[in-house]
Amino acid sequence: MNVLILGSGGREHTLAWKLAQSPKLGKLFVAPGNAGTAEIAQNMPIGVNDFEKIKEAVLQHDISMVVVGPEDPLVNGVHDFFLKDVALVKIPVIGPQKAAAELEGSKQFAKEFMMRHRIPTAAYQSFTADTLEEGYTFLEKLTPPYVLKADGLAAGKGVLILNDLREAKEELRTMLVDGKFGNASAKVVIEEFLAGIELSVFVLTDGVGYKVLPTAKDYKRIGEGDTGLNTGGMGAISPVPFVDKNFMDKIHDRIVKPTVEGLKMDDLPYKGFIFIGLIKVGDEPMVIEYNVRLGDPETEVVVPRIQNDFVSLFEAVANGTLDTVDLAIDGRTATTVMMVSGGYPEAYEKGKEISGYENIQDSLVFHAGTKVEDDTVQTSGGRVMAVTSFGTDFKEALSKSYENIEKIRFEGMNYRKDIGFDL
Ligand code: AMP
Ligand code: GLY
Repeated sequence: MNVLILGSGGREHTLAWKLAQSPKLGKLFVAPGNAGTAEIAQNMPIGVNDFEKIKEAVLQHDISMVVVGPEDPLVNGVHDFFLKDVALVKIPVIGPQKAAAELEGSKQFAKEFMMRHRIPTAAYQSFTADTLEEGYTFLEKLTPPYVLKADGLAAGKGVLILNDLREAKEELRTMLVDGKFGNASAKVVIEEFLAGIELSVFVLTDGVGYKVLPTAKDYKRIGEGDTGLNTGGMGAISPVPFVDKNFMDKIHDRIVKPTVEGLKMDDLPYKGFIFIGLIKVGDEPMVIEYNVRLGDPETEVVVPRIQNDFVSLFEAVANGTLDTVDLAIDGRTATTVMMVSGGYPEAYEKGKEISGYENIQDSLVFHAGTKVEDDTVQTSGGRVMAVTSFGTDFKEALSKSYENIEKIRFEGMNYRKDIGFDL
């Protein structure tokens, strides 16, 4: 069958690499894709939110499955768009419908969902411009640091953590009244600060059955020792070494199971990946956030460890037969290190020629922000490429990633040399 992947990052290159291994795959398309996906699939210059163009391409190329990488088109209702169109209704979309995508599209929706289904998460209240004064009073009752979250999608920038009460009040006002994050911060969730170590759990569900995928830990800050600005992710490790059976059982019983059952109970149709951002507080798992997609760069370590055929796996999601599938997981550890443009996550230059990645044998190179121009592969984003390696433990895997990253060159290249430092 012909498959279309929506997206253009390292996550999508990894999914393309995995799907391309399936004997069931006909032709693979990626929209819009990057230089890495262009090597193994056909890129199409279509934006992920251009549903009419996506429809045209699906019909023209006889595509019979669509896998959605990023959250935007899901929150905008790409799955519903297919279901409402007689020409597209039979074509499965991997990714939840709009109503369920609100788990990521609205922080308040996610918090209400967790409260309703008794899923452990930080205490919270939400506010609008009309209730700004109540917001100030709520902040006064909390102890620092203060956690302010724009309700809507804000490209990963919508969470502020502040130590000073005056600053927190000022930011709350800027978010609600001045539209700091546009319409996304017309509502703000203020929540209790949780101290602990973070990890991510991924679940694939067909709406009834589900599979818990390997755990992962990502490194979001630009600077070593987790300092400096937040990025989309500078590296990742899977599995997370501190997750033992007892802790995983807690995650499953208190979080994963009630999440999937809650979706069913609330009539939120969900066929796709659930990304649960967790924090380990003492010995207890609590939910920081839901995302309705795979993580990036977590995908670059989670997906290579799954040995199943991905076309079959996605068919089971579409057909509602996921319960009959056995997952096969590679027991080794996978690590990935992200190479980024100089200056990222602030202003950076694009269009730098990349060399040296073609000859890497014992690591996987996944492209993120790359493009082909003038017959060369060039940088086209902040996060440029991820180098994934396997090892018996994360140290062995990391040393391979670091050894191979040294072979890659582009002007201004930067990467964190301390992935896994806290483990
Ligand atoms: P999010 O955009 O929801 O992933 O939040 C970004 C980051 O803010 C998370 O990865 C956490 O590091 C941090 N964060 C969010 N909520 C809390 C909380 N309640 N307590 C502590 N840290 C938090
Ligand atoms: N790595 C975090 C994310 O994909 O949101």
